[in-house]
Amino acid sequence: MNKIAIFFGPLDGAVHKVAEKIKEAIGEEKVVMVPVKDATVADLEKYDKIIFGISTVGRETWHAKYNNDDWANFLPEIGKTRYEGKALAIFGLGDHVTYAATFVDHIGLLGRELMENGATLVGQVSTEGYEFDDSEAVIDGEFIGLPVDEDFEPELTDERVNNWVEQLRPRFGF
Ligand SMILES: Cc1cc2nc3c(=O)[nH]c(=O)nc-3n(C[C@H](O)[C@H](O)[C@H](O)COP(=O)(O)O)c2cc1C
Repeated sequence: MNKIAIFFGPLDGAVHKVAEKIKEAIGEEKVVMVPVKDATVADLEKYDKIIFGISTVGRETWHAKYNNDDWANFLPEIGKTRYEGKALAIFGLGDHVTYAATFVDHIGLLGRELMENGATLVGQVSTEGYEFDDSEAVIDGEFIGLPVDEDFEPELTDERVNNWVEQLRPRFGF
């Protein structure tokens, strides 16, 4: 299918809100929204252009306290297919104040899983303009996807999203 799929989770939170903004910036008619909640590897295999949306909720809370296991259920599906030739990018929600030492770590977690399965990611973002202490999302000095902080920098979201969508345009062909 030639549409761009946005695989996102959880539903109804900040990731969902930003996923909607990305859809609007690309053009609604070119995008399919896929909640990861009930998605499987078969859904991934339908698309050659995929944007993933994930939040970081702390490794220890992933399976436990935090009331969101959409991604915990879907993450094992990621490793069941190969990604060579696909256009792929990740955006991630985080909180750079409360969680400065693990800022948007799950972009890194997901990105590494994809790369181990043949993915080449686009949409790398400079760390300039972000304040944080450490992040697993930084590889070779830049974020491997787009970090968004709706908790402490919501006023920057639209600009970040719009710049990033422009960056994706050539590879995603929209
Ligand atoms: C229990 C918990 C743990 C969190 N851990 C992190 C973290 O380690 N790093 C980070 O950048 N943000 C962390 N956050 C912030 C969330 O990623 C942020 O609030 C995000 O916008 C949530 O998006 P969602 O509601 O769509 O899941 C955490 C939030 C909660 C509630």
